Amino acid sequence: MSKKVLLATDKAFAPEAVSGIQKIFDEAGYELVKLENYTDKADLLKAVADADAMIIRSDKATAEVIAAAPKLKVIVRAGAGYDNIDLAAATARDICAMNTPGQNSNAVAELAIGMMLYVARNKFTKGIGSELRDKVLGIHAYGNVGRFVANIAKGFGMHIRAFDPYVPKAAMEAEGVYVCDTVEELYETSDYVSLHIPANAETTRSINKNLLFKMKNGAALINTARKEVVCEEGLKLMFAERPDFKYATDVAPDCHAELLETYGLRYHGTEKKMGAGTGEANINAGFAAARQIIAFFEKGDRTFQVNR
Ligand code: 3PG
Repeated sequence: MSKKVLLATDKAFAPEAVSGIQKIFDEAGYELVKLENYTDKADLLKAVADADAMIIRSDKATAEVIAAAPKLKVIVRAGAGYDNIDLAAATARDICAMNTPGQNSNAVAELAIGMMLYVARNKFTKGIGSELRDKVLGIHAYGNVGRFVANIAKGFGMHIRAFDPYVPKAAMEAEGVYVCDTVEELYETSDYVSLHIPANAETTRSINKNLLFKMKNGAALINTARKEVVCEEGLKLMFAERPDFKYATDVAPDCHAELLETYGLRYHGTEKKMGAGTGEANINAGFAAARQIIAFFEKGDRTFQVNR
């Protein structure tokens, strides 16, 4: 019997990505079922009931969703961060959870750079702005997105530094990046800090008051990663006590409305996460997800498994 794959995206992929995913599964003889732009969790619970595989974006694959999918063998998060999958629940059912690392990195990196320009130029309003050239950019986590940000920023004439205890120092230095020994050093010495850490137990609320208050005078924090990594109490204090500080984010905090109303030009948050929202990123991540599912069933390939 042919495998049934559910594409569950509450934020739908671009049409050209969806038609390409369809073609990949048609050629493999798999059935693709689409649940796009849904707003009710009940629709997801119903749709997943007879799925052998599932492709998601930031959609939440909770224990409840997994329990509603008795045939499910593989979940692919078409993207990098997999904090939206209950890995323990997946592992308990021997479900393989994967991501598609690197596939949407350039899209997110371009948005991070765009956000730097946006705050540097007063949210594109009149008044005296500043330039990125010769400013110090601190990249917090030098993974796929961080590396793309570094490469683009070099073209703007920025001086790149990074902190990432999981990447060998020599590898970062080989790319012309000054490596900070501590996270504090990164925040103390950068004009812009761009966040690229995942959300997990170690990083949640780790960008706290102590770290924020170390930022240079006039510095800006750019967050295209996850809202959970920034401590909102610390962020609010920073805004209140440091009138020089700016924050632009693609993952708006719960206090978004308050920050926008109170701090106007110094704060920007997108309504819905859109860093990976390009046709190119959708094609890259969506096609990779489809191919990974076929390779999993046909060859037992678990290359990008994240719950080993
Ligand atoms: C990721 O982790 O890949 C990005 O945050 C993109 O998320 P999205 O697919 O929900 O836009």
